[in-house]
Amino acid sequence: MLNGKNILIGITGGIAAYKICDLIRRFKKNGANVKVTATPNALNFVTKLTLQNLSQNEIYVEEFDIKEWKPEHISLADEADIMLIAPATANTISKISNGIADNLLTSIACAFSKKMIIAPAMNCNMWNNPAIKENIRVLKSRGAEILEPESGFLACGYTGKGRLCSVDKIYNSVVEALNYSDKLKGKKVVVTSGGTVEDIDPVRYISNYSSGKMGFSIANSARDMGAEVTLITTKDFDAPYKIIKVKSAIDMQDALNSEFDTADYVIMAAAVADYRVKNYSEQKIKKTDSENLTLELVKNPDILKSLCEKKSHQIVVGFCAESENLLENAKEKISKKGCDYLVANDISRSDIGFSSDDNEVTILDKSGNIKKLEKASKRVIARKILEYLNE
Ligand code: CTP
Repeated sequence: MLNGKNILIGITGGIAAYKICDLIRRFKKNGANVKVTATPNALNFVTKLTLQNLSQNEIYVEEFDIKEWKPEHISLADEADIMLIAPATANTISKISNGIADNLLTSIACAFSKKMIIAPAMNCNMWNNPAIKENIRVLKSRGAEILEPESGFLACGYTGKGRLCSVDKIYNSVVEALNYSDKLKGKKVVVTSGGTVEDIDPVRYISNYSSGKMGFSIANSARDMGAEVTLITTKDFDAPYKIIKVKSAIDMQDALNSEFDTADYVIMAAAVADYRVKNYSEQKIKKTDSENLTLELVKNPDILKSLCEKKSHQIVVGFCAESENLLENAKEKISKKGCDYLVANDISRSDIGFSSDDNEVTILDKSGNIKKLEKASKRVIARKILEYLNE
């Protein structure tokens, strides 16, 4: 699976450094070339000899220990297909988010322009520190994939979020990232995500439980596959592509209309409210003596349908969340909306869908073909959906 792939691992000074030994073995066993750069502090936790034996390569620690004409931080950055920093300490995270290059590892990170995966591990109070949160946000917005730490008992004696995520998760994320193709290079992909928010008055609104995660995963995967991406979303996400933050269905429609002509793919993963209140109240609605309050609702435009009516070269993909009769409802919906594909998911299951990190979907196309994607992380499902659209 990893034959011929060049993986550069940056190890920093945290107790979880020992877990990376197992990871190196797995990468090697599966055919990858592994090079390791470690900070001097990392070598307090694992020895150079161990890393050297496992990676079957020299371990790079000192910046000025130059053997070739080309500085090490440039040549290591050039030859790697991916850079993984694990465990990433608060110190290294903060340095690389600010462009500080004061050791070999941070210098390589500074010169690295391909896919970077960072797996932080630290004390829970450090992880919750606003400065670290901001640095993580900055790294995400520049395209780094952050494998968030897990909660549990920490080596420092605390219990909380900060433990390095599982080696399995790191391994799968690297394999996943390396197996992306450039299939969407030169294409523009517009994705919607999140539930729309329909205001009632200045303090109240109608919305739904959509987390926006599925659409965000699709946008990220499309970018990894080389596309120019625009994400139109009701949620706050940090990403290295164009994000248009919207609130209501009408806002979402306006944003889509401005992006539609130049789009090659439009993927409507957003949960758009079917109705909005007819008369928005400028003032907060006061409680009255009456036992009932009636809100009059009016229909929102069916954005997906209207895009399908005017589409030319675009491939338009709808989503449908159903709590019963998934396939029957999905078949009816694809013909009613006129989209090229419809991705259906079952929201009656608590292990997939809305707020969950996993999903399981069935893709229908307008010719009647049906493809089921088995339960997997939203990230994997996102890639599989995009690959299917390109088959
Ligand atoms: N959609 C839309 N505009 C709307 C409602 C939905 O563009 N006003 C899009 C959604 O983004 C999704 C698809 O239509 O891609 C299906 O959404 P869904 O809520 O399942 O369909 P509805 O037509 O609203 O049908 P219902 O709620 O009755 O199941």
